Order: sequence, then structure tokens, then C-alpha cells
Amino acid sequence: MKKIIIAIDGHSSTGKSTLAKQLAKKLDYIYVDSGAMYRAVTLFAIENNYIDENKFDKDALISAISSLKIEFKKDESGVTKLFLNNKEVSSKIRGMQVSNLVSKVAALPEVRQCLVKEQRKMGQYKGIVMDGRDIGTVVFPDAELKIFMTASAKTRAQRRWDELTAKGEQVDLDAVYENITSRDHKDSTRSDSPLVQAKDAHILDNSNLTPKKQFELVLGWVNQNTKKK
Ligand code: DC
Repeated sequence: MKKIIIAIDGHSSTGKSTLAKQLAKKLDYIYVDSGAMYRAVTLFAIENNYIDENKFDKDALISAISSLKIEFKKDESGVTKLFLNNKEVSSKIRGMQVSNLVSKVAALPEVRQCLVKEQRKMGQYKGIVMDGRDIGTVVFPDAELKIFMTASAKTRAQRRWDELTAKGEQVDLDAVYENITSRDHKDSTRSDSPLVQAKDAHILDNSNLTPKKQFELVLGWVNQNTKKK
């Protein structure tokens, strides 16, 4: 079967990575969570005191960006882990401080250029599912299958809260809702590569879709595309 590029974009906490992982497993494709890469850069900026809630030393981050090493590696059980300068940071990048500051980091064109270059390299042989905000519009504008995911902000906040509390993080549902809506706003209004729906994307609103139904629907789209000459 022909290998394709599957680009999944959409609002935060719509289940993009869950769907992308499911697809990659089923099709035996590489899965890349591009948001994790922006989170890793943000963690790096926090750990080096370039950014906090009150300040942002953009120049210092921009000078350091090209020397950053961000890698996805599978562990013994086949679970993909994210490494930042050889240190495993998969859980650390999911904390609230990174979530609150990542939009500022992701708005920097220098950061985006660097990560987009890496992402394109990962997709050069196709057979890849990548999720993010600009995958179908900027990273892979020629992707064979583009999906744009959305759901109501309330549904997404509840899902994210469930996820965080299951991991033992103490968070307030209102704070999560606020983080999600403010990230939607920042992601959609930034000047470089804003979150917009590609014209040729399939819209997937999963507010009222079961994961099973959603997967069946998407597999149908995959089949249409992999059969095309
Ligand atoms: O998917 P996520 O919530 O983990 O992404 C974290 C942040 O990174 C999100 O606020 C927007 C940004 N992002 C981006 O600007 N471009 C991407 N391709 C992926 C994520």
C-alpha cells in the first residue's frame, strides 16, 4: 500500500495525539508529536531562566536554539520518549508551567523555523503521522491526508483535567479551561503560522463522537488516500 503523510492539526486537547498514535500503530507509520517539540524548547527556556511568567529573554533563547538536541526514542517496551539534550523529559513537558508558557515560545519565528526544518526531515520518506497546529498548512502543505480536529472548550477542559489528575497533578478545572481557551486564542492569532484549517482538511469535531466511531471514520479517509495513484 502506498505510504502517505498524515497531517493532524487542531485545537489543544482534542485528542490529536491519541488519534495520531492509533493511526501510526495500525499503519506501522512513524508518529511525531510536534507540540512536544515546542514544549521541549519551552522547558529548556524555563530551566535556563530565559522565561518565566514575568520575563522572556528571546535573544538568549534564539542564540541557544540551534544547539538544542531534541529526539524521540522508543524505550524497551516500544513507548516513545522525548529527550532534550540527552535527558528524558516526556513527563516534565506536560506540567502546567510549560503549558502556560509554550504559546509565547511557539510564537517566535526563529523557534518555528528550526523545528519545522527538523519535522520536514522526519517526513522525507513518508509513512508518518504528525500532529500539531501548522502541519497541514506549513510543515507538509502537500500531505495526502489532512485532518483538522476540534471539540467544545468545555469538553476539552474536562478531558485535560481528567488526564492531569490521573497523573497526580492537583489542578483546578477552571484554570485548565482558562489555559485551553487562552492557548486557542494565542495559537489562532499569532502572526507566524497561526492555527488555521487547511482548505483541503477533513474537519473532525469529536465533541460527541466515541473514540471507536472516530477511528472508523478516519480509517475510511486513510483508505481513500492510500488507494489513490
Ligand atoms: O499540542 P500541544 O498542546 O502539546 O502543543 C503545545 C503548544 O505548542 C501549543 O500551545 C501550540 C504549540 N504548537 C505549535 O505552535 N505548532 C505545532 N505544530 C504544535 C504545537
